[in-house]
Amino acid sequence: MSNQNDLCYEKALGYWADIPPTVDGVLGGFGFISDMDIDGSKLFLKSLFSLKNPPASHTALDCGAGIGRITKYLLLPYFQSVDVIEPDEKFLNTITDFVGEERTKLGNFYNVGLQKFKPDKKYDVIWNQWVLGYLTDKDLISFLQLCRNALSENGVIVIKENVTSSGKLEKDETDSSVTRSLKQFLKIFKTANLRRIKQCKQTNFPNGIYPVYMFALVPKINELICNNIQD
Ligand SMILES: C[S@@+](CC[C@H](N)C(=O)[O-])C[C@H]1O[C@@H](n2cnc3c(N)ncnc32)[C@H](O)[C@@H]1O
Repeated sequence: MSNQNDLCYEKALGYWADIPPTVDGVLGGFGFISDMDIDGSKLFLKSLFSLKNPPASHTALDCGAGIGRITKYLLLPYFQSVDVIEPDEKFLNTITDFVGEERTKLGNFYNVGLQKFKPDKKYDVIWNQWVLGYLTDKDLISFLQLCRNALSENGVIVIKENVTSSGKLEKDETDSSVTRSLKQFLKIFKTANLRRIKQCKQTNFPNGIYPVYMFALVPKINELICNNIQD
C-alpha cells in the first residue's frame, strides 16, 4: 500500500470551502467536460443494466456528490431515489435547487466525509467519482467494505476516478489528495473483497488530463453476479 499518512481531511475540506458551488467549481475549472463525462457514465450505467443479473433501479448513492452534478444528470434519470454524501455544507445546500424539477426524488443527505459514513440502508448502485483520492488507503478499504455490505441484491459499486499514467501514486498538496495507479486500485479492490466485473476508460476527454477509468465492483462471494464477469 502507498504511504498516505500526510493526507489531511481538514485541509481538503478547507480547499473545497473556498470553491464556488457551480459545475465549473466542482470540476476544478473543467466544467466543459461535464457533458462528455456524463455521456460516458450513461453508457457504463446502461451496460450494468444489461447484465444478466442487473442491479435494480430503486435507490442509488452519490458519494462526494458536490452540488449534485452526477445525481442530476446521471442518477436521477435512472433511479427512483438518490441519496447523497457530501461533507461541504455549501455544496450540500446547493443540491436541491441545482437538481430542480426532480428534487422530490432526492432521498437522504449525509453531511459527512466518506471516512465517517455508516450506511443504514441498501443501495442498487453506489457511485463514487472524483472523490476517492481524498481517502487514505486504509479509510478507502474500510469505506468500500461498508459499501459492499450496503448493496442490495445484484447491487454494484461504481468507481470513476483519475488514474496515473506513471504507474505511481501522485500527490496534490493543494487539496490534499492523491491520484492512484491502476495497480494500486486493483490491490485495494482485492483487499476490500471486491470483484471487478467491468472496466472502461473514458473517451473523448481533452489531452493533458489524467486518464479516467470506470470500474464496476461486486462482492466476491456473490456467485450470481460473478456469472456476469466479462473480463
Ligand atoms: C472534484 S469534486 C467532485 C464532485 C462530484 N463527484 C462530481 O463529479 O461532480 C470532489 C468532491 O469531493 C468532496 N470531498 C472532499 N473530501 C471528501 C471526503 N473525505 N469525503 C467525501 N467527499 C469529499 C468535495 O467536497 C467535493 O464535493
